[in-house]
Amino acid sequence: MVRQEQLCSHAAPKRPTHGGGRVVHSAYKRVVVNPRFSYVMTAGHHLPSMAEEIGRSLAGRIRFIHPKFFYDEAGSLLFEQITTLPEYYPTRSEMEILRSMRPGLAGFLQGDFALVELGSGSAKKTRLLLDLLAQRQETVEYYPIDISSIIKESSLRLQRDYKNIKITGILGQYENGLSFVKGIACRKVIAFLGSSIGNFSPSAASRLLKNIRLAMGPSDLLLLGLDLAKQRDVLESAYNDFAGITAKFNLNVLKRINTELGGNFDLQNFEHLAFYNQSRRRIEMHLRSRQPQEITISSINLSFKLRRGETILTEHSYKFTHGQIESMARGAGLGVKGIWHDSRKFFAVALLSP
Ligand code: AVI
Repeated sequence: MVRQEQLCSHAAPKRPTHGGGRVVHSAYKRVVVNPRFSYVMTAGHHLPSMAEEIGRSLAGRIRFIHPKFFYDEAGSLLFEQITTLPEYYPTRSEMEILRSMRPGLAGFLQGDFALVELGSGSAKKTRLLLDLLAQRQETVEYYPIDISSIIKESSLRLQRDYKNIKITGILGQYENGLSFVKGIACRKVIAFLGSSIGNFSPSAASRLLKNIRLAMGPSDLLLLGLDLAKQRDVLESAYNDFAGITAKFNLNVLKRINTELGGNFDLQNFEHLAFYNQSRRRIEMHLRSRQPQEITISSINLSFKLRRGETILTEHSYKFTHGQIESMARGAGLGVKGIWHDSRKFFAVALLSP
């Protein structure tokens, strides 16, 4: 087994045991792919399993499937397709901002920084940040955190294109990823892009921001991407694309429950529903039952009936105002260093620090 060169030392795991190219720590399992790329698996640490969570949320009065369960392999690929759709403006708008803000951001990056990314996915946007860091630093340590195993392919692609990058992927939920990166002994820029924070309820979003703050050192930076509140038609077409990819993405979560938990969802009996709830400033995504039906999920011993027209809530996507961005940051103990927009003012990227 090749030992990895440690640049930013990591304080957490002690007394690893080695075996078959794999290092097993007491807290994290580390898989070494090559000397410049390894990943740790944090799934299951102190967090309920998919079966437990779905068992609870589908049995509730408001039937709900958490949006993090969209991202199995098929769901992650569908999401990648969504980001290229003509109607889905957030990704393009954010890329425009990240490109145009680079000179301004460079002014805040004095000295070396490790890059941590929450919800890195395909890491396309990451390249805009890596370009900046890789030009200025001898080595860039990159810590992508994602629930999807897409992290493995995207990291290998980055490694091919950036010769001075060292990647430690963290495969798991944000909470576990954050406790891992808290142990990194060097300055960090944490990127939380794509307005993924909008998929959390306001209280969960402020808890998450506080957790991010707790993982930050005094001179660390947070780059937060946020979708802004805007006209209903622009928002609704972004979640009801003509090609029907968002509908497939939404329905795919039922397929996943069938495969992984022994569900009997018949996808033909559901339709995609997405609309803007203006008073709560959020897109709501649901799966609507086309007919009365009985659902069973064998591995969790759950069965329930759905009436025609009844829905299962699958996602909230909150849209933000400037006032909210500032008060969310303040509430988490973060100051705003700057907020950048795209030319249409559809999207914002905020630079925050403790
Ligand atoms: C990942 N997240 C920010 C996307 C959003 O816009 O809320 C997920 C998505 N759902 C439907 N389309 C895209």
